[in-house]
Amino acid sequence: MLGTDTLLVDDDAGVLVVTINRPKALNALNQAVIAGLQHVLDEAAEAARAGRARALVLTGAGEKAFVAGADIAAMADMSVGTAREFARSGHAVGDALASLPIPTIAAVNGFALGGGCELALACDFIYAAENAKFGQPEVKLGVIPGFGGTQRLARRVGLARAIELCLAGDTIDAAEAARIGLVNRVLPAAELLPATIATARKIAEMGPVAVAEAKRVLYAGAGLPLSQANALEVEAFAGLFDTADQKEGMAAFLGKRKPEFKGR
Ligand code: HXC
Repeated sequence: MLGTDTLLVDDDAGVLVVTINRPKALNALNQAVIAGLQHVLDEAAEAARAGRARALVLTGAGEKAFVAGADIAAMADMSVGTAREFARSGHAVGDALASLPIPTIAAVNGFALGGGCELALACDFIYAAENAKFGQPEVKLGVIPGFGGTQRLARRVGLARAIELCLAGDTIDAAEAARIGLVNRVLPAAELLPATIATARKIAEMGPVAVAEAKRVLYAGAGLPLSQANALEVEAFAGLFDTADQKEGMAAFLGKRKPEFKGR
């Protein structure tokens, strides 16, 4: 899988580590980076379907930033139409992350502001370095979040916290982000990437069909009334009894051995 100069892709034995690489601009997202991410995620989806990719970790280059937002220099002169297309392209990347049949984890190694916070939110969950900072400061620029922040942030941390962050534009540290449920785990900077990859690898060792179904049902159910969401779970649970992995997983438990999942 090929990256670009602004997007590095490392395949760590089935765990794809995608690094946004514009450290001089604090990894700000311009159209080229968004297009590159879309391309990498399309390839990751294909690799996941073929069993070659089992998890994806998203991070930023350098010690200062995950992503300090969408590129303000690139947005400054946008027309309404270009801004709409730009927002849509960011949403497509968010949707691509959420619909990947493998886990996606953001390793937030510094500033995750604006589009950076939104990109992290599009991952299944977030690990953060102790020095990480989160925020939706778009109102300070006379705009609002445009890559899903008003919606994904509210769904992750609740409406009141999300409204406060989006309206006041404040930046919160990693500890506060963990306290409100935006971040799952806070780590010393040096341990962030190894710990994130270790969690990715742990999930990669589970039954891949089960992991994909758990992710699908969790996201799909979140937008449905509880009775419909529960029905979705029942169907997905039952459907897994038609897989070799279910038979292998349960036989391995009963035989007191490690399962060898095939992903089917
Ligand atoms: C373009 C950026 C940038 C950004 C930083 N840089 N953030 N360039 N877009 N979002 C550039 C700076 O211009 C500077 O370039 C270099 O990175 C280093 O940044 P400094 O500001 O010098 O660093 P520092 O003083 O440490 O401050 C760090 C910072 C600050 C607090 C993160 O850079 C900042 O406030 N950035 C903007 C954050 C933001 O508003 N994000 C939301 C954007 S709107 P030079 O060339 O001078 O060295 C958004 C909308 C998403 O994300 C939806 C779109 C549809």
